[in-house]
Amino acid sequence: MAALPPGHGDSWNRGMFPTPVIDVERLNLEYGGFHAVKDLSFQVRPGEFYALLGTNGAGKTSVLETVEGHRSPTSGTVRVFGQSPRDRRAVRPRTGIMLQESGFSPDLTVKESVRVIGRLTGRTDSVERVLGLIGLVHKAGTKVSQLSGGEKRRLDFATAVYGTPELIFLDEPTTGLDIQARDDLWDAVEKLREEGSTIVLTTHYLEEAQQRADRIGLMHEGTFHREGTVPELTRTLPSVIRFSLPSCAPPHPLPTAGGHDGTFLVETFDLQRDLHVLLRWAEENAVDLTELEAGPTRLDDVFRSIGSEPATPATLREEDLHHALDRSQ
Ligand SMILES: Nc1ncnc2c1ncn2[C@@H]1O[C@H](COP(=O)(O)OP(=O)(O)O)[C@@H](O)[C@H]1O
Ligand SMILES: [Mg+2]
Repeated sequence: MAALPPGHGDSWNRGMFPTPVIDVERLNLEYGGFHAVKDLSFQVRPGEFYALLGTNGAGKTSVLETVEGHRSPTSGTVRVFGQSPRDRRAVRPRTGIMLQESGFSPDLTVKESVRVIGRLTGRTDSVERVLGLIGLVHKAGTKVSQLSGGEKRRLDFATAVYGTPELIFLDEPTTGLDIQARDDLWDAVEKLREEGSTIVLTTHYLEEAQQRADRIGLMHEGTFHREGTVPELTRTLPSVIRFSLPSCAPPHPLPTAGGHDGTFLVETFDLQRDLHVLLRWAEENAVDLTELEAGPTRLDDVFRSIGSEPATPATLREEDLHHALDRSQ
C-alpha cells in the first residue's frame, strides 16, 4: 500500500504553527437535559478557512454561538485570540459576524445601515468601499424594507467585511443568493483572505466548502464525525464508476455495488485499474457504455455515509485510514 502523504494534521501536531485564532477544548453544551454538543475540540489557525458542516441539529449553530461569545459553555473552554469570547471588548473589534438574519431596521437606507455597522464594530473603513464590496452601490439610498432577499443577504455580508476584521464568521452566507451574487461574495471573501483574515463558514452547499475550505469539521449529533482536509475526508471512501448497458449486453466484469434498470454503480479503491478493465471489456464485447461517469468520492458522498458507519474519534487518524483501506482490499 502506498504511504499516505503527510497531511496538515501531522505538522500541526508537531506544533509548527502559531497560536490558534480559535481554540475549543472539550466543549459541552446542554439545553435543559439535552446534550447538544459533546466534548468537542478543534482549532482554527491564523489565515485558515475552516468550514463547519453537518446534519440538521448536529450542533453547528450552538458551537458558533459559543465561539462568537453569544452563549456560555456548559463545560469546556473556548478561546478566541487567546481570550474568552465573552470578553467582548477584547474580541469584538477583531471579529466580523454574518448571522443568518441580521435584523436591520427596515426604515434605514442601505448606506445608513452600513454606517450603523461601522459604528457597532468600532473598526474604521469607508462606507463607499464596503458598498462596492457588497455590490450595493446602486442601492445606497434604498430602504432596507425595499430590498430583495438576495440584496438583504449582501447587506448582511457588510457586517462581516466592514473594516477587514481578522476573524470572520459566515453562517450560511450564500443562502438566497443567485449565482452571480454568490461568485461576487466568494471573490470578496478571497480578497479578505489575501488580507490575512481567518474564515469560519457554515453552509449547506457542500461544493462551496469542498472548493474553498482548508479544513472541514463534519458534525453529527454534537460531535465530529470527521475532521480534516477535503482529501482526508474523501480518501477513506471508494471512487465510483457509473454506466448504463443495453439489455442485450453480456454481464460486465466488475463487482456491482448498486444500480437499477441497466444502470450500474461500481465502487473502487483502484479507479484506474477498474476503469481499464471495464473499457477493455466493452471494447472486446463491442458494448456501448452509455452515461459513463467515473470520479473520486465527493464530499456529499461523505455526508451520505454519516450514520452508515461508526463515528471516528475527534479527528481522522492515520490508523483509521489504513483500517478503512485494508477493509476494502
Ligand atoms: N435553545 C435551545 N433549547 C433547546 N434545544 C436546543 C436549543 N438550541 C438548539 N437546540 C437543540 O440542540 C441541537 C443542536 O442545534 P443546533 O446547534 O441549532 O444545530 P445545527 O445548527 O447543526 O442545525 C438540536 O437538536 C436543537 O434542537
Ligand atoms: Mg444551524
